[in-house]
Amino acid sequence: MPVTHDHSYVEDFAPGANVLPPRAWLDDDSAKLPLTGEWSFRLSPSVADAPGDLKDPDTSGWDTITVPGHWQLSGYGAPAYTNVVYPFPLEPPYVPTDNPTGDYVRTVTIPADWAGSRVVLRFEGVDSRFAVHVNGEFVGWSSGSRLPSEFDLTDLVAPGKEARIAVRVHQWSAGSYVEDQDMWWLSGIFREVNLVALKPTAPTDVFVHASYDLGTGTLKVDSDVAGTVVVPELDLEIPTGVEVTATVEPWSAESPRLYDGVVRTEGGDVRLRIGFRTVEIADGVLTVNGNRVLFNGVNRHEFHPDRGRALTEQDMLDDVLIMKRAGINAVRTSHYPPHPHFLSLCDEYGLYVIDECDLETHGFGYEPEPPKLPNPVMDERFRDDLVERMRRMVQRDKNHASIIIWSLGNECGMGDNLKAMYDAAKEIDSSRPVHYERDTEAEFVDIYSRMYTDPAGCAEIGAGPELYRNLPFILCEYGHAMGNGPGGLLDYREVFDKYPRCQGGFIWEFIDHGIRTTIDGREVYAYGGDFGETIHDGNFVCDGLLFPDRTPSPGMLEYIKVIEPLRIVAGDNGVSITNRYEVLDTEHLTFAYVVEVEGTQVASGELSVPVIAPGETVTVELPAVDASRPETWVTVTASLAAGTSWAEAGHRIAWGQIRLDSPVSVDLPAGGAPADGVAGVDGISVGAVKNARLDVWRAPIDNDTNPGVAAAWREEGLHRVQHRIVSQGERDGAWEVVTRTAPPQLQWGLVSTWRWTAVDGGVVLDLSVVPEGTFPEVLPRLGITFELPKVSQVEWFGTGPNEAYVDTREAAAVGRYSATVAELQTPYVRPQENGHRIDTRWATLDGLRIEALGTLFGLTVRDWTTQALETATHAADLVPGDTTHVTLDIAQTGVGTAACGPALPDRDKLKTAPAKLSVRFTSN
Ligand code: GAL
Ligand code: MG
Repeated sequence: MPVTHDHSYVEDFAPGANVLPPRAWLDDDSAKLPLTGEWSFRLSPSVADAPGDLKDPDTSGWDTITVPGHWQLSGYGAPAYTNVVYPFPLEPPYVPTDNPTGDYVRTVTIPADWAGSRVVLRFEGVDSRFAVHVNGEFVGWSSGSRLPSEFDLTDLVAPGKEARIAVRVHQWSAGSYVEDQDMWWLSGIFREVNLVALKPTAPTDVFVHASYDLGTGTLKVDSDVAGTVVVPELDLEIPTGVEVTATVEPWSAESPRLYDGVVRTEGGDVRLRIGFRTVEIADGVLTVNGNRVLFNGVNRHEFHPDRGRALTEQDMLDDVLIMKRAGINAVRTSHYPPHPHFLSLCDEYGLYVIDECDLETHGFGYEPEPPKLPNPVMDERFRDDLVERMRRMVQRDKNHASIIIWSLGNECGMGDNLKAMYDAAKEIDSSRPVHYERDTEAEFVDIYSRMYTDPAGCAEIGAGPELYRNLPFILCEYGHAMGNGPGGLLDYREVFDKYPRCQGGFIWEFIDHGIRTTIDGREVYAYGGDFGETIHDGNFVCDGLLFPDRTPSPGMLEYIKVIEPLRIVAGDNGVSITNRYEVLDTEHLTFAYVVEVEGTQVASGELSVPVIAPGETVTVELPAVDASRPETWVTVTASLAAGTSWAEAGHRIAWGQIRLDSPVSVDLPAGGAPADGVAGVDGISVGAVKNARLDVWRAPIDNDTNPGVAAAWREEGLHRVQHRIVSQGERDGAWEVVTRTAPPQLQWGLVSTWRWTAVDGGVVLDLSVVPEGTFPEVLPRLGITFELPKVSQVEWFGTGPNEAYVDTREAAAVGRYSATVAELQTPYVRPQENGHRIDTRWATLDGLRIEALGTLFGLTVRDWTTQALETATHAADLVPGDTTHVTLDIAQTGVGTAACGPALPDRDKLKTAPAKLSVRFTSN
């Protein structure tokens, strides 16, 4: 076909033209010529502006670009972020005339020894639609950004000769209508390109069928070119297409046993990594090898702060290692098939995968919102493309043991095309169940799935076998990890533990998609709007358990604790340890204990624990300890006895803390008025403490802002309260100041009595707060905030080492900690309340010691005000001044997950009511 500059394919409903049928991704002997690296590149602002010279482009004046990569991250155009909305009008298949179009050109020499082979050009991923020209001829076009496409060049190229490859890539296409995932719009050839030589005598498609039942593996390997299947470790040598059984060890996420195999043919070998496992659904429970699976999962987008979705193999390994070390056992590849290498890593290291097709049409809306029609999943014109997308995924990925579920896509509502995709998947592979979350009535799916249902809603499903055809139930998304949070994860764990049908879920999501860039000379992680987009969804793109640089946020640490495979808690006369693994016993773990008194270690040692089988509990006696001293705690830790492929020996797997003493209430010390006198609100003179006042406000977290909670708080004036000294004077041996804290224009207030009593070396504050008027039902926080000259080091005895709120305190251990003020901050991409340490007993801030007398306080120390935290848009905006701001909270409202999820439960709200705080300030 001659070179064409007919661009009608951009708005074609078809999946492509002249694309080879999909096949398995193979580790074979086919010769490959990688086309990664530099390509000549030119970006045109629209299709019409793209020159008609692809027959023989003169690239001398062009730039170069690195493949794989996105052009928006290589200096051309800019990234743009939308969650639900399409950044163009909805009139499929049409796309804007301003359709950035990138031309990639490269000349390669076809190896001389490729004679006799079919020469195939393979793209692993191009966003969003592209046409290929080789040696001046139009070859074909394809779409499906996160799916491979292959073109046969045999008749266009000659071994030993040069071939000129020109690829024209369009940012927008009819395909964009079905790729409305919540992520950055990033274009270009972002996965590898290879020239491949396929020998006619070598297999091009192989399908491994490997199942497991009670010690016996069944193996059959289909191949398009017949050969011999060899599995040396099992002494197997069988023809392709023939089924055989053998005694094997099964594959599971916890014990990812793989066998090396090979398909031998005249034309070359295909290497296999065979995992024997069987996925079944019976009585409402999904099992792997007969064992109920509990998904402690995450939703993973492919993301790197510099590379976008063009990940390196190291990035993929980093993700897998982070997951394995965290005890995460499952990944939903939201919302498109990942790079195939990631799936190989999941096979090797052991992660269950829900492989999701490259499909989302969220912007068309669905119930309860009125949908915009016709949604591509209902539109027959899209049917072939959608079905082909499913086939392309299943064919590419069918040999991965780690994939135990196929998913049709995300958030498209319902439509016949989805059912056709389901059928297409089953036709190729009937061994795996199929998932789709928007099949809300479980009409055709094999697994019932929801997102963001609250724990009570999950329990209802768990308790109702008559609901949703008694299918296994998962939360394909929950625990929305945007900003500070997610809170309340323990509530879900309890439901998953209680109802066999409730098989866990997948946190939304693994990583913040903040793009590293510079704004006003400061390095920041950019989110929606930072690149000048007019339509965008702000920092909704930063909602991961990891910060963009893959360091864990406190939410990740909390999740690790909540899902840990052992439960270590107080038992009768000792410590009770429950094994929550699916298949592993505890033989690979060692147990140790540490006893601390007020954070100082007094004893430690190994703990001898019998081997615990999955599902079993043992109670182990603890070494005798003098428990008469206040704050005596024992911490029991289970660690890896030996290194594994994903962690070193000693890696912590689970822990639990038990208090051994019985807490007693502390007597409040008595004393006279402090010698140097203390003022009220405008500055008390305890050391350098200044400007102590009642505090009810926190810099709204995403979970306050998005559901409108923060707006309601503002209505109540909580963000701008004023303080009035009602009275002050000596009274009953103390300096007593009465204040009233209230917002402008409103009539409610908080009346506080501050009683300052001089004690040896310092002063005791007894604060009592009483609300009056029609006060708000819930406060963000209730505490006091004061200023100190810049503090360098903070030591505290309480919860730590990381931030902990009332509903995110599982990962916090009681202990003695030390940190700089900078280290106490959590760098959420969009700044917000952070760094709170609940239940602090005492703290020293350089020379000042603060001690809880009775009720414990929440400690927050920062080098900026709450207001500065609230108005900052990126972490780098926060610059320390020469004052440190300290907040001692009587209580603070929990964090929850309401940015995208259920409202904060009442239990975790700080209800406005009379409250008290007693603390002693002394010079250290
Ligand atoms: C879900 C969606 C995800 C993401 C999330 C909000 O509805 O499936 O892709 O958008 O909400 O962060
Ligand atoms: Mg969406």
